[in-house]
Amino acid sequence: MKGIVLAGGAGSRLYPMTQVMTKQLQSVYDKPMIYYPLSILMLGGIKDILLITTPDDQPLFQKLLGDGSKFGIKLSYKIQEKPNGLPEAFVLGEDFIGDDDVCLILGDNLFYGDLNFFRDAIKAQKEKHGGLEGRVFAYYVADPRAYGVVEFDKATKKVKTLEEKPEHPKSNYAVPGLYLFDNTVARRAKNLKPSPRGETEIVDLMLSYHNEDKLGVAMMYRGLAWLDTGTPRSLLDASTFIGAIEERQGLKVACLEEISYRQKFINLDELKRIANALPKCSYRTYLEKIIAEES
Ligand code: TTP
Repeated sequence: MKGIVLAGGAGSRLYPMTQVMTKQLQSVYDKPMIYYPLSILMLGGIKDILLITTPDDQPLFQKLLGDGSKFGIKLSYKIQEKPNGLPEAFVLGEDFIGDDDVCLILGDNLFYGDLNFFRDAIKAQKEKHGGLEGRVFAYYVADPRAYGVVEFDKATKKVKTLEEKPEHPKSNYAVPGLYLFDNTVARRAKNLKPSPRGETEIVDLMLSYHNEDKLGVAMMYRGLAWLDTGTPRSLLDASTFIGAIEERQGLKVACLEEISYRQKFINLDELKRIANALPKCSYRTYLEKIIAEES
């Protein structure tokens, strides 16, 4: 399974904050936003990851994350010249995906909680359970009208209907920015026509699987936090949420070096080297605490 983080976009709702720096490099409490979607892929066991950015921001991401080796992963980079729509991630990523399955996560989607549902979905996707070749996730919300809304068969987990921002939603299940597709996704994405707003639409890509009866749903359980960071208010709320969890537990959310160590992508010696290269800061102290506990 390959992973793609789509971290371009206009970030227009966050102007002027995003005028010189992309949304996904802004801070969510104590670390850049991009750490959070990367952490989800890593916790799903995905180590080969493509990061898609705007032309201006690519050098900044490279300065922050490098080739991924300090997190025990392999990071490659691609530029999206303009925000032409989410499906373009698969067109840009065609060679990277190759014969594999792929998980796309949007660079501004934050999840917090037990990720066994995600690992199970990855396994089902690899095995094409039920003949399903694509999977979206379903997250129960009070008002789904601002999202893609999915209605599905609870027994077979097959999609029944899928609508983008419907006025009269057929269910309360929103589709978050996390998707699993097989290797036909690049061909499907290339065949999409732009919508009236001039972008290709992820709902059309999902429908291309659904129209062939090949789109399944994996449930996100109710205790899982799915946070949005698109507006100044939601960005502040996400920081407050992460800050509250971290201060209460003394454990960091989305600390990539820790995840890499616990996933056995790097060993204790490598973790020590990484910690020693950091300036004195609470992040380093946190890594040193893990090293002391594990030694
Ligand atoms: P959006 O929230 O649709 O857009 P945006 O982040 O650019 O913000 P705004 O609406 O305020 O202008 O994008 C969701 C995520 O997908 C976000 O991480 C940006 C990314 N994205 C791309 O990288 N390329 C694209 O073509 C689009 C449409 C989004």
